[in-house]
Amino acid sequence: MARENYREDVAGRANVEDTPELLAYYDELERLEAGALWTVANKIEPWQPASASKPVLWRYRDLREHVLRSVDLVTPEKAGRRVIYLNNPGRQEVSAAVGWLYSGLQVMQPGEVASAHAHSASALRFIMEGAGAYTIVDGHKMTLGANDFVLTPNGTWHEHGVSEDGEPCIWQDGLDIPLMNALEANFYVVHPELQQAVGHPVNSMPAAWGNPGLLPAGETWTKPYSPLLKYEWTRTYDALTRYSEVTDGSDFDGVMMNYINPVSGGPVMQTIGASMQMLRPGEKTRAHRHTGSFLYQCAKGRGYSIINGKRFDWQERDIFCVPSWAWHEHANASDSEDACLFAFNDMPVMNALGLYREEAFGENGGQQPILT
Ligand SMILES: [Fe+2]
Ligand SMILES: [Fe+2]
Repeated sequence: MARENYREDVAGRANVEDTPELLAYYDELERLEAGALWTVANKIEPWQPASASKPVLWRYRDLREHVLRSVDLVTPEKAGRRVIYLNNPGRQEVSAAVGWLYSGLQVMQPGEVASAHAHSASALRFIMEGAGAYTIVDGHKMTLGANDFVLTPNGTWHEHGVSEDGEPCIWQDGLDIPLMNALEANFYVVHPELQQAVGHPVNSMPAAWGNPGLLPAGETWTKPYSPLLKYEWTRTYDALTRYSEVTDGSDFDGVMMNYINPVSGGPVMQTIGASMQMLRPGEKTRAHRHTGSFLYQCAKGRGYSIINGKRFDWQERDIFCVPSWAWHEHANASDSEDACLFAFNDMPVMNALGLYREEAFGENGGQQPILT
């Protein structure tokens, strides 16, 4: 029977012609749970990263009503977490939104509380709408508003809720569940009492650790994630605005700032990094590509991104992905307002493993031709 052997007529690459004798030999190896490397080598070692993820834009105006419908269909008690997840058509087997990253939209009603739990996956949430949302991480309660960004790192007890006097809340969850499963290192634990006690004043961590250039004297922090836990939108936007006044920004990203661990200067968590970038009125970036998977959410304004030659128009709350090694460039569609893009990514993994590579799109003034 014919089988794909991925031959390439290039010196140094596998290029073995099938013969009846070899085909019989391959069958014998298969019965022994083995195989000849030269039949798969060119497939498993591509010349460059071959992402299975498709560039996708998830429009909030399309998804929102379906997210809200889940409120009538399931309770958080029964669902565990009431989330509509983003299912990349190239990554359905691992329930990833892009690469090895998972993402979903979670909705909670005033007075609802999700049960406390912990897992190996590192997690974050980016608040999309509503009022009264909160997250508790290892006894630290944080109140959350639109465009606030909160961490629930690997191994921490965490739970979410919306206060009785709040409004229905929707936020984007981001986790590295597929990566943890790929590494076969994923554990999940439900808190023995289902809820955890709040052991500190509300918002104590951002109050202590979230002050520019200042760390609390006499306090030590040795955990491998940021003690800040919550990054408020007003401070983030203020920082971007101030920085935009004194920088030309990056050719590829406009004015971009990374969320960091203020103690180490490194990424917010061991496996997930995050950033907020501002595209100034009329700004259009140049295209580049690099390793690492990215999920973007438009936090403000409107614009478009061109990913592997395809244009994706976005507005506030839309989410889109840029797969590893995909060409991408971004543009602000407004000539008077800035546009802001939140993103999370697996860059800490790329950097820690020495896998980061980047390339600028050299032709056409750095702009990709649009493919139809
Ligand atoms: Fe969780
Ligand atoms: Fe990029």
